[in-house]
Amino acid sequence: MHQAPFQNAAEPFASEAPIVLSMQDIHHAYGRHTAVAGINLTVRQGEVVCLLGPSGCGKTTLLRIVAGLEVLQRGHVEINGRPLGQPHVPPEHRNVGLAFQESALFPHLSVLENVTFGLASLPARQRRARAMELLALLGMEDYAGSYPHTLSGGQQQRVALARALAPEPGLMLLDEPFSSLDARLRDRIRDDTLHVLKKLGAGALLVTHDPEEAMFMADRIALMREGHVVQMGTPRELYCEPVDPFVVTFFDTVNELTGEVRGGRVATPVGEVAAPALAEGERARVMIRPEALRVEALAKPPTTTHSHVIMAKLLGRASLLHICAHGADGQEAHLHARVPGVFLPEEGQPVAISLDASQVFVFPAGTRAAHGEA
Ligand SMILES: Nc1ncnc2c1ncn2[C@@H]1O[C@H](COP(=O)(O)OP(=O)(O)OP(=O)(O)O)[C@@H](O)[C@H]1O
Ligand SMILES: [Mg+2]
Repeated sequence: MHQAPFQNAAEPFASEAPIVLSMQDIHHAYGRHTAVAGINLTVRQGEVVCLLGPSGCGKTTLLRIVAGLEVLQRGHVEINGRPLGQPHVPPEHRNVGLAFQESALFPHLSVLENVTFGLASLPARQRRARAMELLALLGMEDYAGSYPHTLSGGQQQRVALARALAPEPGLMLLDEPFSSLDARLRDRIRDDTLHVLKKLGAGALLVTHDPEEAMFMADRIALMREGHVVQMGTPRELYCEPVDPFVVTFFDTVNELTGEVRGGRVATPVGEVAAPALAEGERARVMIRPEALRVEALAKPPTTTHSHVIMAKLLGRASLLHICAHGADGQEAHLHARVPGVFLPEEGQPVAISLDASQVFVFPAGTRAAHGEA
């Protein structure tokens, strides 16, 4: 194995690791259109940071600024402590590995030559060995002699990934590097890429619009909306401590209810939920993840009002239940519950429902959510 440039390569990411990328107060506009504004972000050695967000929120723009493909308009960018803005340092002098959505391979070079291209500093034999190692890792060793135009989009993407990883740069910039791969292959290449990144101990900034991919890959996620970072933190922080409804809905479709705060709590058809951050009498928006609903089939209907199953569907690893929930005070709601494994009760099955409060989130009604809806 080629000697990794960082001595702590096998160490897990540590928060005191040196900062490889620092971005401060980045603004960027295309003509009069502001693409990103007020972005602050760091990536440490050995850390994978994901830029996550809907199409058009500015992810690629940020990556292009770091890569030097866009000229910095405002703010400050440093890689390994070196300022790269004024004067503009071109991409090839930034010691970054790039694997972009539309990564073009050199058409006149074979797959092997494409991957060895960035390894000029090594002796020829090591160059070849290193390239073959990465091609093998990405399942492309049989194509070493092929030319790019004879490869599928997904195969080209894998070669581009191998080419970017081969020089073991201190910072990897990856823009949707798995988007052209089918689901099964994507899972494998993602896994391999994660292990390669961790082994190299490089810092990585990875763009994706897929929350599961971000959670799989990232030590930290920066969730973006309309050119701003909405929340930055570990996957657990974003999933379990979302700062606003947009963050909740970005990860999952949720059950939404509204109610009024009474005594610090909001009544719902599935029980009361605490609303500590809201004022007495304030309208509340209650967001309940499907997995927050614990559903228990009842042998016979209780004498009081009860909830029942409308429909049950097997999703594979989990079952999705459509439930008509009845609260004690006559409130009613159609809710979705996701239950692990195969659990397919009949239509009309009476059920008791309890809540896992850790997957229920309460915000003031009218808090802005995904796609700008009120
Ligand atoms: N070269 C350009 N000229 C003009 N506008 C641009 C240019 N590149 C991007 N934009 C605009 O800037 C905004 C951010 O674009 P960007 O490509 O960074 O989004 P993104 O988050 O990467 O989206 P996607 O997930 O679709 O790739 C969008 O509104 C886009 O239309
Ligand atoms: Mg993009």
